[in-house]
Amino acid sequence: MTVRVVVGTQWGDEGKGKITDLLAANTDIVVRYQGGNNAGHTVIVGQEVFKLHLIPSGILFPNTVCVIGNGVVVDPEVLLAEIEMLRGRGVQVSPDNLKISSAAHLILAKHKKHDQEQEAGRADGQKIGTTGRGIGPAYVDKIDRSGARLEIFLRQDAPPDEQLAGLRDKIAPYIIDSVKYLNEALAAGKNILLEGAQGTMLDVDHGTYPFVTSSNPTAGGACTGSGLGPTKIDEVWGVVKAYSTRVGAGPFPTELFDADGEYLRAAGAEFGTTTGRARRCGWFDAVVVKHAARVNGLTDLVITKLDVLDKLPKLKICTAYALDGQAVADLPTDLVLFSRAQPIYLEMDGWQKDTTQCRSFSELPSEALKYIAKLQEVVGVKITLVSTGPDRAQAIRRDI
Ligand code: IMP
Repeated sequence: MTVRVVVGTQWGDEGKGKITDLLAANTDIVVRYQGGNNAGHTVIVGQEVFKLHLIPSGILFPNTVCVIGNGVVVDPEVLLAEIEMLRGRGVQVSPDNLKISSAAHLILAKHKKHDQEQEAGRADGQKIGTTGRGIGPAYVDKIDRSGARLEIFLRQDAPPDEQLAGLRDKIAPYIIDSVKYLNEALAAGKNILLEGAQGTMLDVDHGTYPFVTSSNPTAGGACTGSGLGPTKIDEVWGVVKAYSTRVGAGPFPTELFDADGEYLRAAGAEFGTTTGRARRCGWFDAVVVKHAARVNGLTDLVITKLDVLDKLPKLKICTAYALDGQAVADLPTDLVLFSRAQPIYLEMDGWQKDTTQCRSFSELPSEALKYIAKLQEVVGVKITLVSTGPDRAQAIRRDI
């Protein structure tokens, strides 16, 4: 019986969907605990590519139950479209394997409109680059205590607006008291995986505010967003790309504007799952990932997309920032300072060999092993899993 949290350690898009999918095979229940359909998960199973935004990728396993926790904001039309898409492709989705918290908040049409108008009205340099899916305004209403929770679909006497009323019969069967369900499942010995969307640097408290999302992707959010208390969490796994990417605006010290950046974007297919936007690409930033290790209390680190570096002759890891003539090893909390931080790099040799077929650490080229060992050393968290391609089989495990 294990309760494991999986979080992004960078700016999202670290490949959490694939890792959740891998772990879901041995997990009874997968829970999404925050965010909404701003997220995007691409999971590849054989020849099939699944793009999911709201429903956890655990849904692809027939015996895994997926829960959309109370911390999530739900666009009901997107939810139903995703259920239909999965069913259309032969994936079984029913109230037996998909459950949604009655306390999750709704994203309404006005939230989407407000998100898009607010973003359009922001001056250049102040645009956040939101996904336009109404996430921020839905959370604003939640915190303002004027939001609508999914429980309204269970109340016959309190019809929501006409459009929502039409969805009631389709959505109501999925709605449960997820806090009771999860705590009872835990007491019955079930394995639970709590899946965060986005990443640490997009956390409203611990990220690059205001260039963040409106929720807590960090591990603390797993407790508030699911109703499982902190003492129930056994492990916190941080997922990290072997390099860095960011979608949307905000500081990004290791961003590359040269051929290496172009190469990472093309080789890593770095285009947003939700918006299709080209992602900004850069070298691995250990200052960022150490910050993530700290604020999430990481027990394990998972490296994804190592294979994207396969052809590069030289690699860089940012170990500190140069800031106003000083070397700084901690993430500056002030965005103004962070915007001025210049990366201090250590350089390593690339391996220039194909790693996509490697299935054990001993099969990896020696330079790749050195790169992984260096990441472990600079971040200070044990690396448990390395992914070298999008397929389920392309994963190298240690200790599990
Ligand atoms: P919002 O979450 O739509 O409000 O957008 C706020 C910021 O978070 C923007 O920079 C988005 O690009 C970013 N963002 C939101 N969701 C994701 C994600 O799943 N991956 C990467 N970036 C995201």
